[in-house]
Amino acid sequence: MKEEIITLGIESSCDETSVSVVKNGREVISNIIDTQIPIHEKYGGVVPEIASRNHIEAISRVTKRALQEAKMSWDDIDAITPTYGPGLVGALLVGVSYAKALSYAIKRPLVGVNHIEGHIAANYITHKELRPPFLCMMMSGGNTQIVYVKDYTEFEVLGKTRDDAIGEAFDKVARVVGLRYPGGPKVDKLAEEGKITIQFPKTHFENLDFSFSGIKTAVINLHHKMPDINKADLCASFENAVTEVLIENIQKAIEQTNIKTVVLAGGVSANLYIRKAFLDLEKNNVKIYMPDLKLCTDNAAMIASAGYYNFISGKRSELNLNAIPNLKL
Ligand code: KG4
Repeated sequence: MKEEIITLGIESSCDETSVSVVKNGREVISNIIDTQIPIHEKYGGVVPEIASRNHIEAISRVTKRALQEAKMSWDDIDAITPTYGPGLVGALLVGVSYAKALSYAIKRPLVGVNHIEGHIAANYITHKELRPPFLCMMMSGGNTQIVYVKDYTEFEVLGKTRDDAIGEAFDKVARVVGLRYPGGPKVDKLAEEGKITIQFPKTHFENLDFSFSGIKTAVINLHHKMPDINKADLCASFENAVTEVLIENIQKAIEQTNIKTVVLAGGVSANLYIRKAFLDLEKNNVKIYMPDLKLCTDNAAMIASAGYYNFISGKRSELNLNAIPNLKL
């Protein structure tokens, strides 16, 4: 194996077209992110067909820029690592098809990457010393789960949401209080100005599963009954309720596994209130890692990092690689 492995990450699972060049899974040489947020904003959410069309228009341009910025040519690339799931099928297919054509044309191996693994790997870029095993609190728009990361490519899901993903709950609460898509960051900002004045009902399970639909519905019902309620207080109280559930479950997971390293991942790990609540656990001898804010949401650097670990573990995909919208860890 060469000393220096360069992976080309390709991400198109939702509304970001991103391509990145990463060295040895840890060093980002370039990471171009072309976001479609302004396009989908006016519809209040991602429109799948429009997302696919925009990925098609962007993918060649974004790839060229990623190579140019890295000052590299195709010859420098050792493996092409696209996200192949989970995500929107039409959007995923753009990145997967482009990667397959590239792999064939430049004669480099293709390694399909699970998007959730990518979110976890964002932490390897931010924290050069981080190594498995650890627990991961995975929180995104499509997933909420506690993952036992046994090794770079070996995972066990210890608990997961039974209904809404946490990011979905944030986005729905945002819409109800009149904040535009993507609402999560806007709820985060508004909540900073508010006080925790309402205790929302929380759902607990015997195991490490989550449920966020009850909290979300309680927020929506309260807002319908009292449309003049202070929105900043409502957001702060919602954020506090979901954070308490996350913290309770991660504490249970730490007790059950005796693993005291916890890593945050996914778009919602950009939430400042949640980041602070997890950092508070360090008082109890728990080590907390979280990705740089710019690596929390979708980007191809994290995909290239996960791609690197899959590549060196020997994983290869064939040219019949397909998009898998509901791919699990
Ligand atoms: O991980 P991600 O970029 O996409 C998926 O793979 O799902 O996560 C997107 C989700 C959205 O629901 C967005 O509202 C939420 O992450 N999000 C946030 C924040 N930043 C992004 N939620 C709460 N606070 C934030 N600061």
